[in-house]
Amino acid sequence: MFRIVDKRELNSAVTLLEIEAPFVAKKAQAGQFIIFRVDEYSERVPLTIADYNREKGTVTIIFQKVGFSTNLLAAKEIGDTILDFVGPLGTATEYEGMKKVAVVGGGVGCAIAYPQAKALHAMGVEVDVIVGFRNKDIVILEDEMKAVSTNYYLMTDDGSKAEKGFVTDKLKALIEAGNQYDTVIAIGPIPMMKFVSLTTKPYGIHTIVSLNPIMIDGTGMCGGCRVTVGGEIKFACVDGPDFDGHLVDFDELMNRNSIYKQREGEISKDHVC
Ligand code: FES
Repeated sequence: MFRIVDKRELNSAVTLLEIEAPFVAKKAQAGQFIIFRVDEYSERVPLTIADYNREKGTVTIIFQKVGFSTNLLAAKEIGDTILDFVGPLGTATEYEGMKKVAVVGGGVGCAIAYPQAKALHAMGVEVDVIVGFRNKDIVILEDEMKAVSTNYYLMTDDGSKAEKGFVTDKLKALIEAGNQYDTVIAIGPIPMMKFVSLTTKPYGIHTIVSLNPIMIDGTGMCGGCRVTVGGEIKFACVDGPDFDGHLVDFDELMNRNSIYKQREGEISKDHVC
């Protein structure tokens, strides 16, 4: 069993949990993920590692309440335990040769963009962080992001905080202003990652995206997480979750991710009744 040692509500839909998992914390690296199961009746859900503390033996996850299992997890309190917390899974992000990077986060994807910016910052890389939210009420990790970035740019769709517009607007403006990024790392909703990749492609800037397909076993056995990258079938759980954004078939990924939406709604309803 894995004990929850800290809990914070980052906004009305997003929760941070710090979980005692010393063996996962010992090996975790930015870009990797875990699979949790709250109890024996729950589904297995992958979540990218938001942070880890090797000394304390803890791993931090940040997640949005979007379905039955994430709501169940969000209802847990400090001191409670969950049944499974498996990881670290997937390959760590490859930072070799990076000197100036734009880390782009969208919504709850900022939870995963944060450890990327933090790792790069610790290596002395110049990191511009561009984050986007629908409005001021759902902005998360502002102080944390500022602490690990060279420049921090906050965008809101409705202009209720900082600058009005999308992350792609800011990214394009920064590139056109002469910022020579060797890499852009984009993490967030699939459409956002698609449009960041389309933005960087004409400039030939290497673009890494972190994919979040449906996962079941997380070990490359079930095929549930398959994605098409550069015309080849890849399994996000073992070949990723990081991939070259210029090669990913985002439309196929969006279709596959929506397959179980109706069933999940039915399950949530069943458990409420
Ligand atoms: Fe089963 Fe990746 S989750 S192959």
